Amino acid sequence: MTSPQTFRVKSFGCQMNVYDGERMAELLGAQGMRAAGDGEDADLVVLNTCHIREKAAEKAYSDVGRLAREDGSKPLIALAGCVAQAEGEEARTRSKMIDMVVGPQAYHRLPQMVADAAAGRASVDTDMPAISKFDALPARRRSGPSAFLSVQEGCDKFCTYCVVPYTRGAEISRPFADIVREAEQLAAGGAREITLLGQNVNAWESDGRDLAGLIRHLASFAELERIRYTTSHPVNMGEGLIAAHAEVPKLMPYLHLPVQSGSDPVLRAMNRSHTVASYLRTIAQVRAARPDIAISGDFIVGFPGETDAEFERTLDIVDAVRYAAAFSFKYSPRPGTPAATMEDQVPQAVMDQRLARLQARLAEHSTAFNRATVGRTTRILLDRRGRKPGQMIGKSPWLQSVVVETAAPVGSMLDVTITGAGPNSLFGARLPEVRAA
Ligand code: SAH
Ligand code: SF4
Ligand code: F3S
Repeated sequence: MTSPQTFRVKSFGCQMNVYDGERMAELLGAQGMRAAGDGEDADLVVLNTCHIREKAAEKAYSDVGRLAREDGSKPLIALAGCVAQAEGEEARTRSKMIDMVVGPQAYHRLPQMVADAAAGRASVDTDMPAISKFDALPARRRSGPSAFLSVQEGCDKFCTYCVVPYTRGAEISRPFADIVREAEQLAAGGAREITLLGQNVNAWESDGRDLAGLIRHLASFAELERIRYTTSHPVNMGEGLIAAHAEVPKLMPYLHLPVQSGSDPVLRAMNRSHTVASYLRTIAQVRAARPDIAISGDFIVGFPGETDAEFERTLDIVDAVRYAAAFSFKYSPRPGTPAATMEDQVPQAVMDQRLARLQARLAEHSTAFNRATVGRTTRILLDRRGRKPGQMIGKSPWLQSVVVETAAPVGSMLDVTITGAGPNSLFGARLPEVRAA
């Protein structure tokens, strides 16, 4: 096969995968390849997979199968991301169509792997060398108005249900200077907002600085108007970071702080290392620092052994916190994790019922949160076009999507009055005086 001219990267799963996908695309671009257009057949396809829940691997293999072309040929195929890390060599045994298996810490080796694959040599690289991939990635040149920036990877928490510590490895913080350099490149390339990413982003530390110190430093960049970070672990929610929410105006009033369950015995069995009381105390401190902050969370229903009464406690904590947004999941046994072999796995039908009740309760609170913003004037960052001509969609400080009629381009900051609230988005009317970024 000749060297590929065009590529497509398809990312699934969390924001870190989206970030990694962008970096892989930049890396392939720097090799002289071009991103395939919509509907165009790519010579190389990178499937950047997620392993977090049920049937992730099966889905990845069926996605690979669908890349077969009608004439019997196929593109070069790289299996990347967390399924690649978990499956390793096994992936090539399960699908002969896969040419490359590249784990999340080995992306910088992709160009060599592609050259080998084009010469007919398949390769598997799921090594986890400390941090070197970032050093080998090209400088960032262009950016949309809202950019992701990975600062921390991996997890040492070992919640008993979760694959991430196995697929992403141990907690590693990127060095401060590297992050600052990348943030400068993103800002020069057009970013107005940066979201700092990490599996446990609030555990980031480098050269005696913590995440609050990094945020304060980035807030001094004139081009950057907004800073966000995700995902945080409750035990790493330190005083300095909470204080930053009170003191750094560019730090947006939004905190994603997964709790998973509202029952202490379940949290213990999950190895979450926080309790209901300690979590609620943290929320109270955060709200004292920034009263209007939007809190979002993650929830798992039907963890092995979870009783009806324990599930009710999850509804209680939802009412206590009044989440502005949330993600909720049925427990999914993951091969190799301690919870997968625990007794008292909860039947699907029970999980279905619990999830429906939880989601209804979460929707009440998110709707109430959205409605409470009606009549307020706020600033939005336009990040894409709306469905109808003349419409644009921007993000509020609380990460709500706001639909507005305006001719202002993507990347503008607009002051709008919120005129209406739907379940998933708000409507805004533009104020007379406008400041485009
Ligand atoms: N590091 C983050 C995110 C981890 S994955 C954290 O600690 O919160 C994102 C979410 O997926 C988790 O918060 C959890 O709610 C969910 N999740 C992880 N493993 C799961 C499993 N085996 N079954 C169902 N949901 C799971
Ligand atoms: Fe998974 Fe727990 Fe680590 Fe989050 S903190 S990535 S849920 S093990
Ligand atoms: Fe999925 Fe891996 Fe992210 S398992 S959620 S892509 S860290």
